[in-house]
Amino acid sequence: MMRKLLAPFACLAFLVATAVFAGTTPPEKATIDDCVAKKSAVEFPHKAHVDGGIACATCHHNQPDLKAGMEAQTCGSCHVAPEKAETPKCSEMSTTKNPFHLTCVKCHKEELAKKADTKAPTKCDQCHPKA
Ligand code: HEC
Ligand code: HEC
Ligand code: HEC
Ligand code: HEC
Repeated sequence: MMRKLLAPFACLAFLVATAVFAGTTPPEKATIDDCVAKKSAVEFPHKAHVDGGIACATCHHNQPDLKAGMEAQTCGSCHVAPEKAETPKCSEMSTTKNPFHLTCVKCHKEELAKKADTKAPTKCDQCHPKA
């Protein structure tokens, strides 16, 4: 009798544990697709960047103490429709107004300047593949 009653709870606990785990482990890869009106979604090899030694807060600037195992806020939660007009918006084309161009392309250009054969992409189609 007791077994039958507890089984659904055990099952629920497992589902909750799985959801929490998925939310706090830094992803292997992420697809950045909050703003795709003019350009295609961008595949981001998250693990490769972490393994490359880039500090979490270099990108997750709003969480200076972020560590593996912690929940991270997506960039889109603040950069799709920012409260202030001057906050970078992911729908912008410009290098100086798009939060991802400011983060990703800026660093890649610096890498390219240091190392001509870097794999860090700087050309539009390398990040936004043509359909
Ligand atoms: C290092 C990767 C990278 C490169 C290189 C890059 N972008 Fe982006 N771009 C992104 C990311 C990431 C986003 C955010 C996408 C999202 O939120 O869906 C974005 C967003 C955009 C957006 C706004 C979203 C939309 O579809 O309206 C435009 C326009 C855009 N990029 C154009 C360009 C152009 C033009 C170039 C070349 C001059 C370029 N990008 C180069 C990564 C890159
Ligand atoms: C080179 C930039 C960069 C670095 C370094 C980085 N991240 Fe991320 N991280 C991102 C981007 C971009 C996303 C995707 C966010 C989105 O979809 O808007 C992301 C997503 C995540 C997510 C998933 C968020 C969700 O709910 O979808 C977690 C968790 C995370 N990062 C944790 C970390 C931790 C911990 C570190 C350091 C060990 C780290 N990140 C380092 C850029 C980075
Ligand atoms: C909790 C909200 C929030 C989250 C989450 C967030 N940002 Fe921001 N971001 C802001 C605000 C607000 C600003 C405007 C400047 C400021 O107040 O710090 C900003 C500014 C920026 C800037 C401009 C910095 C400068 O020096 O001009 C970049 C680039 C940026 N964010 C990229 C990202 C990326 C990439 C992610 C995800 C990995 C992210 N942000 C996550 C709120 C956020
Ligand atoms: C602080 C520096 C830095 C930031 C920020 C950064 N990258 Fe990179 N990225 C690199 C370096 C370094 C490499 C690898 C170069 C190599 O292996 O030669 C790289 C490689 C890549 C590659 C190619 C991987 C491969 O092996 O083909 C992609 C795609 C990429 N980055 C996307 C992004 C996107 C999208 C963002 C923003 C969300 C981003 N990067 C932010 C430094 C950075």
